[in-house]
Amino acid sequence: MHSSPAGRPPPHPTIWRDLAWVFAVTALAALLSATFDLSERAYRFTRGMERFQLDELPGTLFVLSIGLVWFAWRRYRDARRELSHRRMLEEQAERLLADNRRLANQALQAQELERRHLARELHDELGQYLNAIALDAARIRDLSSQREPEIHRIALGLIQSASHVYREIGDMIRRLRPIGLDEFGLPSALEHCVDGWRERLPDASFSLTIEGDFSGLSDTLTITLYRLVQEGLTNVSKFARHSRVEVFMVRAPRETQSADAAGAPIDEIVVTMADDGPGTDLTKPRKGLGLIGMRERVEALGGEFHVASTPQGGFLFCARVPAHAGLAEPVN
Ligand SMILES: Nc1ncnc2c1ncn2[C@@H]1O[C@H](COP(=O)(O)OP(=O)(O)OP(=O)(O)O)[C@@H](O)[C@H]1O
Ligand SMILES: [Mg+2]
Repeated sequence: MHSSPAGRPPPHPTIWRDLAWVFAVTALAALLSATFDLSERAYRFTRGMERFQLDELPGTLFVLSIGLVWFAWRRYRDARRELSHRRMLEEQAERLLADNRRLANQALQAQELERRHLARELHDELGQYLNAIALDAARIRDLSSQREPEIHRIALGLIQSASHVYREIGDMIRRLRPIGLDEFGLPSALEHCVDGWRERLPDASFSLTIEGDFSGLSDTLTITLYRLVQEGLTNVSKFARHSRVEVFMVRAPRETQSADAAGAPIDEIVVTMADDGPGTDLTKPRKGLGLIGMRERVEALGGEFHVASTPQGGFLFCARVPAHAGLAEPVN
């Protein structure tokens, strides 16, 4: 919306058009009155009805019209007051929304930091000790194999339990911090993630298309893009196990041709995931938190998130996020 330097919107163009109409109609009325001697005719007509005091009508009507002008002016002032109050509330709501997004962003960053820390602790602490337990158990198994069958059996059980816990911890670490994200970058981590789902869901087919350079993104944006695809694929595994799934991730200049302070076009990243599964009726209330979390993550980074689906019509989501989101300075 455009606004004047004082923050007030300029008068609506229809004001001038309406005023022009008022003056034009008044001039036409004056012209018609002069041409047809309307006042004289009215006077002749009302002279015969003096007892009704019709000749006093013009003065009364004049006062009525002044009264209406006053009335309209008061309503106009009320409307303006109402409008400025509403504008103030809108500004307040915008400020609160921005605060909310900042908070959500901070909470997500803290969550990812904590997850990364947990993943490292699990790997470095638990992983090492479990390994030591498994090695000790293997040694006990070997030493007891001839003399102590009971101890040998317990040692075998210990080795089995240790490797089970090891696998579980591995899964937990992968969920907490995606494999390869830090070492090999987002495209490789996504390929690895999609490969995992290819194995787990042999009845579905997956295609992943990645275009553009995804280096130099903020850590928050990188993990957000990964989590979007991760949640989208988890949803496929729950609701569209037999579908064809297409994932696109593209970095491109923003369509609206916006530019940063230096005039360089601002890139955005678009992630789209579509499947041809059973879809859902989006007008019905939903209990899940996945889509809400996706929207929150994207909007916290100043992006947009859209979902489209109809029963039997597949499911699609699209997220657009500025490529510099989460960085102190825009980069392209
Ligand atoms: N690919 C899909 N195909 C069909 N329906 C879907 C798909 N993805 C999501 N939905 C529908 O949208 C709803 C909301 O998804 P969302 O991810 O928010 O919740 P959820 O997966 O049910 O639970 P949560 O993610 O909290 O574990 C789902 O309950 C499901 O009805
Ligand atoms: Mg979900």
